[in-house]
Formats: sequence, C-alpha cells, structure tokens
Amino acid sequence: MISKLAKIKSLKKKSKIICLTAYSKNVAQAIDKYTNIILVGDSLGSTLYNFKSTRSVTLEMMIKHSISVRQGIKNSLMVVDMPYNTYNKSSQALKNCKKVMKLTKCDAVKIEGGLKKIKIIKYLIKNKVPVMGHLGILPQSTKGKFKSKGRSINERNELIRDCKLLEDAGVFSLVLECVETKLARHITNLIKIPTIGIGSSNNCDGQILVIDDILGLTESKMKFVKKFVDVKKLIAFGAKRFKKEVILKKYPLKKHSY
Ligand code: KIV
Repeated sequence: MISKLAKIKSLKKKSKIICLTAYSKNVAQAIDKYTNIILVGDSLGSTLYNFKSTRSVTLEMMIKHSISVRQGIKNSLMVVDMPYNTYNKSSQALKNCKKVMKLTKCDAVKIEGGLKKIKIIKYLIKNKVPVMGHLGILPQSTKGKFKSKGRSINERNELIRDCKLLEDAGVFSLVLECVETKLARHITNLIKIPTIGIGSSNNCDGQILVIDDILGLTESKMKFVKKFVDVKKLIAFGAKRFKKEVILKKYPLKKHSY
C-alpha cells in the first residue's frame, strides 16, 4: 500500500495539493474531506493567543492542540509545526519530535530553515521522523515586518541552495512562504518534491493558508490572505438569534428540557 507521504509526493505535477491549518478537532473534521494536508501551525500563537510572534508558542501548546486535531482527521496527512527553540540541536530536536509524534500521532513535523538547520533535519529523517521543510519568510527567526523573499540575487541563490539541500536531506515537501513569483516557479521545476506556497503565487504544487484567515476570523493584512467566508458574521448571527429566543422564551422549548 502506498504510504500517505508517498501519496503527497506523487501529486506533484498531477493535481494541486490542498493544505490548511487547523487547531482543533471540530475544524479539522470540517475541512478533512477537502484537504491533502492539515498543519497544526504555530501560527496558533498569533491566531488564537494574540502573541506578537510565534516564538512564544511552546511544545506543550502544540501537543495539546494537535491531540485535538488528530481526532478530527480521517484522510489528510497531519503535520505538526515544531515551535521555536525546540530543535536547536540534533539530540534535542529528535527527543522533542519523537515526543510530538508519540503523543499526537501526527504523520510528520515541519521545521523552519535551510542551511542552518540541515544537520538537524538530516538527523531527524535518518531517525524516522518525516519532515516538511519551510523556506522563504521564516516567522520564527524574522524580527520586525515580514518582507517577501527572492528579490535580490543573493536571496535567490540562497533560496535555491537551501531548496536543493532540503530535497537531498529527504524532506517530503517544502513550504515556500512569500517567495517571489518567478523564483517560486523556478524552484518548483527544479526539485522533485512538492512545493506548497503561501504568498508564493500559483506556480507552486500546492497552497496553504491559515484556516482562521480564510474563515474571516482574523484581521490579517497579509497580501496573500483571502477571506473565503465570513464566519465571524455567522457566529454573531447565531449568538443574536440565541439571545432573541431566550428573551422571547422561544428557547428552550419543552423538547429541549428534561
Ligand atoms: O504556522 C503556520 O500556520 C505555518 C503556515 C502558514 C505555513 O507555518
């Protein structure tokens, strides 16, 4: 039987790979039919906890949310973001990744970085931890405003080098965050593993967005964000109807009561 990871890889150039984040069981359950990959992203730091950066997210937070998400997934590949400071050294990274895999039963972890993290990533993969790479904007190591990547020759060469390094190390797919359009196409054609874009044009093999952004639950101003539905309005509508029916004594009825 073809493994879930092999299936994702085989989609390259065949069909677009659909990825979204989820931080809870109910949301994972609702999107699972439409996604190939569900990522428990450390974006939960800003999205749910209002942290200024993902650096404040802890391993325990990732594990708690991932355990919930796992219960909502039947089909998609589940990836968990390794948070800041949990993969500084090979032995520390392996211990933390194994802990995440054991407790959350995820299929893979995501690690931010190229050359600087390559030794650690190789060590993880050698020790049977499937890794998704992440290049371009790296929220865990970016201070200040996020700027797109790959506009200067240096940045371009660095990104191409890192993509090749990660592919050779054995990552099964690669998130490209805010990478310039032509460079995203070049990288996607250059490597054999799927590229998953976020703000990196439709030249990538797949796309990922933060679920709360597409549902209109956040106020994100990032250029790549598109609100596909206004769930905030729907929630307010539900609360308003509930309030009205309680006041009018239309709820609860006899059938709702013991
Ligand atoms: O943390 C996250 O949600 C991510 C994706 C947006 C790629 O890393």
